[in-house]
Amino acid sequence: MPAAANHAEQPIYVRQMDFQFDDDLDPLVVAGDPEQSYMVIGLSLLLPYLEPYLIRTMKEAKKEVRHPQLLDDLERFSAQEGQHYKQHIRLNQALRLDCFPKLPELEAKLDADYRRFSTEKSLRFNLAYAEGFEALTTASARFSFERGADPNMHPQVGALLNWHLVEELEHRTVAFDVYDHLYGDYFYRLTAGLYAQWHMSSFIRHVTRHMIEADREAIERCGGEASRKERLRKVWPELRSLLLPKVLRTYSPRYTPHDIPFDPELEVMAAELNQAARSYH
Ligand SMILES: [Fe+2]
Ligand SMILES: [Fe+2]
Repeated sequence: MPAAANHAEQPIYVRQMDFQFDDDLDPLVVAGDPEQSYMVIGLSLLLPYLEPYLIRTMKEAKKEVRHPQLLDDLERFSAQEGQHYKQHIRLNQALRLDCFPKLPELEAKLDADYRRFSTEKSLRFNLAYAEGFEALTTASARFSFERGADPNMHPQVGALLNWHLVEELEHRTVAFDVYDHLYGDYFYRLTAGLYAQWHMSSFIRHVTRHMIEADREAIERCGGEASRKERLRKVWPELRSLLLPKVLRTYSPRYTPHDIPFDPELEVMAAELNQAARSYH
């Protein structure tokens, strides 16, 4: 018997945004920090494959869900994800990536993985994968807003990520609720969710490593190996004290994204995004 569906606590707005990206954008999107820049690019390259997979998964789930509010949430989730990956494609096309020859191969493998998951894996697996991604995104978005805007981030990239992360928090409950409504099995969600997090972070890690290896000059321009170690040394305490507890919380059997508030500051940001949007509903 499916569980009763919860629903999102605040509106999930589908916004059409007009982001501007310069042509031939420098891949060093975080000034002076190649590792962080390439991780951001790895994420941006992941999303045009991952988010369409989430949408395909929700389309299948829609056939099973009977709860009207959850159906509405599910539609809005998919509409937001559809906007996200289209904007990331625009950013990826603007970035100067032709000197990284292995990227197309990494993307082709990722694309094949997600197509295979959609055709060969169960809906239960695909929904648990979706929630694994959403739980990690929710934790990362909260970490990112707590940490504050990075002054070294390219403003065009920062604006895109800001919009994306606010919308990820708006729809943070949807994949969890759809999985819970149809299956509700905690251990399966945890196992498949951990696999999902390993799978997507492997892609980002491979992209980052390849970009660092292919452009050693960027590392040298940013102070060489000593500076790279110094950047890592600085980022660890924040990751350990601010991000790790948020991620670990999502692994608890008592975790529900409904317990994570949509803070007043986020409401202000969401209202500002509505103002900035070409249209929203
Ligand atoms: Fe998204
Ligand atoms: Fe999402």
